[in-house]
Amino acid sequence: MALENHSLKLLSIQGKTKSPPPSIVCDHRMDKIANVTVLGSGTMGHGIAQIAAMAGFKVLLRDVEQRFLDNAMDKIKWSLNKLVEKNKMTKESFDQTLSRLVPVIDLKEGLKDADLVIEAVPEDLSLKRIVYKDVSSYADPKTLFASNTSTLPISEMAELTDRPGSFIGLHFFNPPQLMKLVEVIRGHQTEQGTVESLMTFVENLGKTPVLVQKDVAGFIVNRIFIPLVHEAVFCKERDGITYEEIDAAMKLKLGFPMGIFELADYTGLDVINKATHEMYLRDKKVINPHPLIEKLFEQKKLGQKTGEGFYSYSSDKYERKDLVQADATTFDPIVMLAVASNNACWLLSNGVCSQADLEKALRLGMGLKKELLATVQEFGIKRVIEKLQEMSDKYGKFYAPDPYLLKLAD
Ligand code: CAA
Repeated sequence: MALENHSLKLLSIQGKTKSPPPSIVCDHRMDKIANVTVLGSGTMGHGIAQIAAMAGFKVLLRDVEQRFLDNAMDKIKWSLNKLVEKNKMTKESFDQTLSRLVPVIDLKEGLKDADLVIEAVPEDLSLKRIVYKDVSSYADPKTLFASNTSTLPISEMAELTDRPGSFIGLHFFNPPQLMKLVEVIRGHQTEQGTVESLMTFVENLGKTPVLVQKDVAGFIVNRIFIPLVHEAVFCKERDGITYEEIDAAMKLKLGFPMGIFELADYTGLDVINKATHEMYLRDKKVINPHPLIEKLFEQKKLGQKTGEGFYSYSSDKYERKDLVQADATTFDPIVMLAVASNNACWLLSNGVCSQADLEKALRLGMGLKKELLATVQEFGIKRVIEKLQEMSDKYGKFYAPDPYLLKLAD
């Protein structure tokens, strides 16, 4: 659907009010979210602000310095221009989107009429503590709070606010302009009304929400993606092959849209490193960390944004590596498939999501072209389990096959 038509449809949807089901006690349902404030104008914040404005919401994009906001507005204009170039947006919608988007520095001003605040500030709990203290005191009591955190515990963050019942995780994927998925994460105290309001909000953005039933480390997608980056480094070391060979095999044999190193560079080694620490802190079983990630972070080789990570880049704008068939022949990605599917099965064993939602999340949040568990079937479940058992014997219980995977083989 053309974006401008979509925006019109969304505006009419927002005009409707729905009554909550009578069985639900919901002080915190927001029937008509119209004004959205995004805190933080970095990679995710500017993208979230852009898509909200594209969908017809009035958006205040707040950051602490003008230069951050200027940089964010430049990126938004670049992205909107791309959409116009590709006939996905009219020039009129371009202008309307920009007119709905106001950059702001003063926090109090930024929160004045907010129905929903989406926080996308750096992943530092002590910083978030300060932000949430201020936001709690300035925002209207009815304002809903959502965090775009990739890995911090939603329930703990909710406790930093004056309204844990109205607090939720709303995890977008990079680039938010292109990725369809939003993980909606319920904290221990999140009220049902808040969940419903935010699921509807995500649909009104033109995105697909997947409800993450438990606030586990990495939620759904990062539980699979982040450990894979580390595993890819182990594979490179063990097999003595190149980044390109691994990436080409991921792309051309496993149906990933980007190679895993390419994706890590695109995401940012700072983000991967922080997510690693947080996930490992919460659950040692989730990840087998390779020290190279921390090393690249310390060397400020953060990927595309700094010009170097696993690969080198000529600019901080969207840039891809040429991954060719000839490179895809040397590496058997079964270990990568085994690790990804084992973590996926952990999510299913632990009731974090259904199998259908898992596959939806991987398709829309990581762009997987084939269902992960279908790829496991193609490679042979028994082979995948044998590989995990072999790895578990050699390298420890991170690799021990999950009971769900074992059951699939029965
Ligand atoms: N706005 C508008 N257009 C954009 C854009 C943006 N922000 N970013 C890129 N584009 C454009 C590109 O410039 C390119 O246009 P041109 O053809 O004119 O060069 C086009 O979109 C993309 O075309 P490609 O053929 O290069 O790329 P593709 O078909 O592979 O699609 C992709 C791109 C959607 C990013 C796809 O590669 C993909 O799904 N990659 C995986 C991304 C992913 O996994 N993201 C999640 C990371 S994890 C995360 O974010 C969570 C976390 O907490 C860490």
